[in-house]
Amino acid sequence: MANENFGLDVPGRIISCSFTESEVYGRTENCVFRLTIYAETSIRIQVSRQKDFSPNPYSVVSSPLKCNYSWEENDDFYLLKTSQLQIHLDKNNFRLLFKNSSGLTLSEDDPTFGINWQGTAVSCYKKLQQWEKFIGLGEKTGGLNRYGQTYTNWNTDHFGYGTNADPLYLSIPFYIGLHHMNCYGVFFDNTHKSTFNFGAGNNRFSYFTAEDGDLDYYFIHDESVSGIITAYTDLTGKTPMPPRWALGYQQCRYSYYPEKEVLRLADTFREKRIPADVIYLDIHHMEEFKVFSFDKKAFPNPAKLIKHLKQKGFKVVVILDPGIKVDSNYRPYIDGRNKDLFLKYPDGENYEGKVWPGWCVFPDFTNPEVRDWWEQKLQFYIDAEVDGFWTDMNEPATWGQTVPDLVQFHYEGQNANHKKARNVYGFQMARSTKNGQLRHQETLRPFVLSRSGFAGIQRYAAVWTGDNVASDEHMMAGVRLVNSLGLSGVSFSGYDIGGFVGNTNPQLFARWITIATFCPLFRAHTMINSNASEPWAFGEEVEEIAKNYIRLRYKLMPLIYSAFYNSSKSGIPVVKSLSIDYSFDDIVYHGAFENQFLFCDNLLVMPVESHKQITKIYLPQGDWYHLFTGERYEGNQEMLWECPLEYLPVFVKSGAILPMQSATNHAEDPHDGQLNVHIYRGQGKSRQLVYEDDGKSMAYQKGEFSKILFIMDFGSNTLSIDEFSSGFASKFHTANIYFHGFNIYSAELSNNQLKITKTNIAFLDEISPFDPLPDGNHSFQICQEVPGISISLQKNEVQKITLTRIM
Ligand code: NOJ
Repeated sequence: MANENFGLDVPGRIISCSFTESEVYGRTENCVFRLTIYAETSIRIQVSRQKDFSPNPYSVVSSPLKCNYSWEENDDFYLLKTSQLQIHLDKNNFRLLFKNSSGLTLSEDDPTFGINWQGTAVSCYKKLQQWEKFIGLGEKTGGLNRYGQTYTNWNTDHFGYGTNADPLYLSIPFYIGLHHMNCYGVFFDNTHKSTFNFGAGNNRFSYFTAEDGDLDYYFIHDESVSGIITAYTDLTGKTPMPPRWALGYQQCRYSYYPEKEVLRLADTFREKRIPADVIYLDIHHMEEFKVFSFDKKAFPNPAKLIKHLKQKGFKVVVILDPGIKVDSNYRPYIDGRNKDLFLKYPDGENYEGKVWPGWCVFPDFTNPEVRDWWEQKLQFYIDAEVDGFWTDMNEPATWGQTVPDLVQFHYEGQNANHKKARNVYGFQMARSTKNGQLRHQETLRPFVLSRSGFAGIQRYAAVWTGDNVASDEHMMAGVRLVNSLGLSGVSFSGYDIGGFVGNTNPQLFARWITIATFCPLFRAHTMINSNASEPWAFGEEVEEIAKNYIRLRYKLMPLIYSAFYNSSKSGIPVVKSLSIDYSFDDIVYHGAFENQFLFCDNLLVMPVESHKQITKIYLPQGDWYHLFTGERYEGNQEMLWECPLEYLPVFVKSGAILPMQSATNHAEDPHDGQLNVHIYRGQGKSRQLVYEDDGKSMAYQKGEFSKILFIMDFGSNTLSIDEFSSGFASKFHTANIYFHGFNIYSAELSNNQLKITKTNIAFLDEISPFDPLPDGNHSFQICQEVPGISISLQKNEVQKITLTRIM
């Protein structure tokens, strides 16, 4: 076939090709190329116009696995086959075609443009498949299905961003394509500014392009979206187990100061019996906004303050900004300057940009020596017994937004300019901060919350979606951002409840906190000079709603903590866009339903704007139980649903086993030892793990944890409870089992017949998300049809309960 270039720089014809155990490499007329088999599902494709490929030291942490593959060739193409993938490589023009093992096309390069260079920019054009959908790409605004849109990856401090603004703070150049009941993933590992076009302004191709560097991408195929996310996180790492307290309620504002404000805040939570775990110290904790300092007037004795807060069961997280004030009386500046640790112009002069403290220099976090220095510096906060760090402004942000492109970065010894290194700056700051915490307190689980990041950030930090706005549109956009981050390997993320910019009204705050109860990071935050944004700041009714939902969050802790454990193993997010479990159901992509998500696998949450009293919801395939009434609904249907502020529509998937506990004041506050297990009748077999460990140390990595596994066989109506513990004894001594949707009149436990009388609907206060209202009435409860059976949990023994239907 004639090889027409149409004026583009293209790889050209393949002129040599060899293969080893895990890779195929060779030359084309204009390039070198390499295909590396990382796993049966995942192939890395590298094409470079340079003599060799430029290393990518940041995102991918796994090495190629030993896989079986075969390699054939004919006159026109090479064919590489693993058990999951077939890859056709065209000899004439280096076009790639990916098929699944049954020969169905997953993705193919555009026959003319394929891989090409325009100036320094490298691109890969892929033919649009019929009805192709695109999901993921990390922290991106817009709809769930990104078809017809274009996005840029360039970490940007975007104060009060619009709900369609792009780019934001964090970049993850990874997306999942879906068509013809098949799916695939593409991770473009290039840290330059990149653009992803998903059929925007054309009906021929999707493409991804980076301003410079190699074409270096991973193509992943699995039958399911979750399989693709697992494969992607096999490459870039999983979200590790957070400390348990980080899953509780967190309160932030810019800023709580002086210390008496902080103390009053802590006291109010405890007086009002509103559970909470974390208080943040924003930039006013510092002297003149200088990192590694406490303002002597506002915080005369930080260690004493923090000790006091700890006694009340609070953890303290402080903000860390990368900008270091240029001030020759300031130790970190002098120190860093003398050791030559800051970003520089090519002539060796330190780059200076303006942020909070005025003119600043910026540690070069892409240099291992600088990370080491920063890690040591954290000793300052560790001495005050700070519990976690909030790495902000790390895009890096400077007033005026622009760091000149010629600014130099170490980039692990490769030397790179700002164009190549910007997108990993915040990522590496988070890395250094996490490692610093571990360095000084190696037995404690670190906590870092980062604004900026890149693919792989989940290994080091939770992330939040920056400076959102107090509006309904933002509340809904935040849900989509978190859903999208979950599709992109980041399990631990959240948004500022109530909105950072502007004043929240009571209805909005109430709705926001009910939705965020089902968000991995559960944190309220607001900016300077805005109205107060604590749960009690909006009047009694909102306080009641907020308190009830925060208490529900704590009751759900066994479920949430176990979901984080599962996620740390599989990479599957704790919050799942419905596109993960119902990938080929077109309705989940409709504008009316695209915000819906599954929390911890089995809770179907429908976020609703605060002004709506009634909303449209979609129940996907299967049966669903309304969480608060226990009523069962058939799936595959759209419904109109009443949604006054105190009743967020939440449904439980049939077959679910929900482990709950008593509400506590904070995550380390002991519960009552009763594990309340709600089983919702379904089909086949269901499993639910209750994972426990000490919640704060690294001992779990040495196997010190407890696992209780519930397996419900709905065919034989048998529940098995299997407990395993090593080095850590479960804090639960009793399991109370509640059966929902069963028409069962008796239950037999270890051959002892338990007489159970059928009650119609029994309301159980202790499992209600709502406390009794002042007049003694109850609002809503989780209800159940058969009263609970209590059993003592036996260590290292399988227990069986059989339910018998009495006709
Ligand atoms: C910007 C952050 O996004 C915001 O959350 C923080 O409060 C301010 N910086 C002040 O530190």
